[in-house]
Amino acid sequence: MEQSHYHIVVLISGGGTNLQALIDASKSSNYKISAVISNKPGAFGLQRAKRSNIPSLTIDHQSFDSRGNFDQALGDAIEEIGPNLIVLAGFMRVLGTDFVNRFEGRVLNIHPSLLPKYPGINTHQRAIDAGDKEHGVSVHFVTADLDGGPVIVQESVPILKNDTREALAARVLEKEHVVYPKVVSWFASGRLHMEAGKVILDHEEISPTGVFIHP
Ligand code: GRF
Repeated sequence: MEQSHYHIVVLISGGGTNLQALIDASKSSNYKISAVISNKPGAFGLQRAKRSNIPSLTIDHQSFDSRGNFDQALGDAIEEIGPNLIVLAGFMRVLGTDFVNRFEGRVLNIHPSLLPKYPGINTHQRAIDAGDKEHGVSVHFVTADLDGGPVIVQESVPILKNDTREALAARVLEKEHVVYPKVVSWFASGRLHMEAGKVILDHEEISPTGVFIHP
């Protein structure tokens, strides 16, 4: 297998199931995870990195006296590693404008809702409470607008009668684990990029709500 030259850094805060999906998929894909960075000491995702011999580090946001200083330190550490792409995977920090501008167009995030519906947290319960018939996942470029960056891909799941938050979250998570590695590989093969705030896939601007990957 030729050495894949496309490197990503994955940022996590917690369990890292999306990180695990990216690790597993990388073995047969065109990208390599050069490092995992957690803002939370002891995040289980760090164990996942260790198990797969991926270098990891913790930059604890609580040891900085401001958001800006944390973002600066995080950006410096990333620049040191020099990845092609930064992939937020269950990363629960809001990144400021300076950070986003520093890596404009090279930061992806996965969000468990069909954006623009339900930016922020607790998306599954909100969809259930709203009586929605479907929910899902969005992969988007990160801009200074929280969960508001241009959407690349969405994948929907049905909300079933008497669905609990946990059941719905698990159904969405399954889709996340399929979609995220796919989008990363599109970026790694040069098929995907952001231009003037628009998403370009295979030289075509795709619609603001992204493309639905059908099952
Ligand atoms: C997932 O729902 C993801 O969409 C959101 O954080 C949750 C946990 O992700 N960003 P992970 O299991 O830590 O990858």
